[in-house]
Amino acid sequence: MRDAYGHDLAYVHDAGFGDLARSAATVLLRALTESGRDRGLVVDLCCGSGLLARELSSAGYEVLGIDISGALLALARERAPDGRFREESILSAEIPACVAVAATGECFNYLFDESNSRETLHSLLRRIHTALEPGGVLIFDAAEPGRVPGSGPHQSHAQGQDWAVLASAEEDRAHETLTREITTFRRVGDLYRCSEETHRLRLIPTHDLLDQLQGLGFEVQTFHRYDNLQLPPGLVGFLARKSPKTYLGSSVAPLVGTKVWIDSFLHCQTTQHSSRGQTE
Ligand SMILES: C[S@@+](CC[C@H](N)C(=O)[O-])C[C@H]1O[C@@H](n2cnc3c(N)ncnc32)[C@H](O)[C@@H]1O
Repeated sequence: MRDAYGHDLAYVHDAGFGDLARSAATVLLRALTESGRDRGLVVDLCCGSGLLARELSSAGYEVLGIDISGALLALARERAPDGRFREESILSAEIPACVAVAATGECFNYLFDESNSRETLHSLLRRIHTALEPGGVLIFDAAEPGRVPGSGPHQSHAQGQDWAVLASAEEDRAHETLTREITTFRRVGDLYRCSEETHRLRLIPTHDLLDQLQGLGFEVQTFHRYDNLQLPPGLVGFLARKSPKTYLGSSVAPLVGTKVWIDSFLHCQTTQHSSRGQTE
């Protein structure tokens, strides 16, 4: 297991990159409300600093956050004091019975846990499907090949009042991996402390995730926005719903309800996938 999100990068991620988790929380809350689930357990995989967990907890849901970064979990415990948090890899974590699972911020792509592979991810998706109650929701985003624009390394930077971050991202197209070299500067007294991390991600073709989810029995929709937040190129949103219980021995009512339910809450550009490999 490699070191992930030490204190300085955890601080910078929380201070400057929280919009994605907050916007995803808005979409998830809408999905839960419109499907009539106003309570129950939400499992936040790779919960980071607890931004999504806080929104769900404030709305009355129980929250369990799982992450491998102790520094991020310390922030999460402060932000969502009613939540429960576990420090472990999602790839080996037990997922308790729940109404929803969230996994935002490319969390299925990271190779901090070197056991991350198609097989271990498939096993996790299966455990999620088993843990969700009928009609329960899985929301996540995943980086696909093409995540880094252009051919060479892509440089970016951002800064806040007491921090700055430089990142260089390079994609290995043959092996479908991405490496990010990240340098943070964080003010400590009159000086700035410099820290460095290298993150490796396994890029996952969207059709492969769709196949896996549909094979497990999820109804899936992909999208490119979380609420008002446009996702960057190569980052794809997924909303997967476990089939609802059959109604009085018939599956007709739930199937009709599924489409109405999905259409009604996303309010964003979506692609509906009705069956294996087929896009409407
Ligand atoms: C980009 S951050 C996203 C955090 C949060 N979900 C958000 O949207 O702000 C990626 C997160 O994934 C976590 N992570 C990556 N691989 C993990 C693994 N195998 N098990 C648990 N957490 C992991 C990191 O520690 C980090 O918190």
